Amino acid sequence: MPLTVKRLGNLIGAELIGLDLTQSLDEATVAEVRRAWLDNLVLVIRGQDITPAQHVAFSERLGDPERGNALSHYNHPEHAEILMVTNHMINGKPSETRNTGRQWHSDLSYTLRPPMGSILHAREIPEVGGDTMFSNMYAAYETLSPAMQAFLDPLQAVHDFMNSKDMARRDPVTVEAMKQRTPPVAQPVVRVHPETGRRALYVHEAATTHIEGLTPEESRAILDFLFRHCETHEHIYRHRWQLHDIVMWDNRCVSHIALFDYSHSSPRHMLRTTLIGTPSGSVRSRGTPADLRAVAAG
Ligand code: SIN
Repeated sequence: MPLTVKRLGNLIGAELIGLDLTQSLDEATVAEVRRAWLDNLVLVIRGQDITPAQHVAFSERLGDPERGNALSHYNHPEHAEILMVTNHMINGKPSETRNTGRQWHSDLSYTLRPPMGSILHAREIPEVGGDTMFSNMYAAYETLSPAMQAFLDPLQAVHDFMNSKDMARRDPVTVEAMKQRTPPVAQPVVRVHPETGRRALYVHEAATTHIEGLTPEESRAILDFLFRHCETHEHIYRHRWQLHDIVMWDNRCVSHIALFDYSHSSPRHMLRTTLIGTPSGSVRSRGTPADLRAVAAG
């Protein structure tokens, strides 16, 4: 069956119709999926009642899935490539991944190899809510004035997973272990997409702490402006999940947020693979605000 691409938003999001991920895909179909993904940034494939092994197999056709990450005790027991984003109980405790992604972010932007994409499979969805919103970060860049673009183009901003509000709700022992393993990383404020060559804004409320070379006050003001700019309604696709949806997004040009518009008494169980990206950024040390002031002063 030929594939159909049905746009879901003006600037971002499309549904791919005609795929059956229980079957293996030929090279031409994989190339079509990849083309549609690059063009639409977020792809939705409905009705895919696939096993975790089939999810991994599909992911491997598009890239190289990460195996295990900082939250490895939330990886699928038989497939280290799969992170369980779930409000199920895990080992007798509520899963720490139940509040994953409550602020705008690009997955793992605070690492030296931020993922190119993520592929999420809805295995259980709440009766209402549990939506995810995706913002087009090319559009965020392209709608800035040329003067603002020229100002931002050479800048670097520091990303630190400790910045996320979610950390306060996590087990302090796990957080401390992650902190040791995951130093902050400076990333370009404007990233050039390695496949399309287009420029995209790459600052995210959950992780970006400050812009290097500016005073803390300047940095805060610019970041606050950019974070609000990325939330421009016209740049956003809001996904209302159906059971067995697959949604895949390009982390290099998309920011996303998982809305807490449901109750944890309603199960929400999603499985995510994360495709390794190209190297980007350089390590920084974790500083106090006073250190940052010194850095800004030169
Ligand atoms: C994520 O941020 O990777 C999870 C998104 C979601 O649960 O909707």
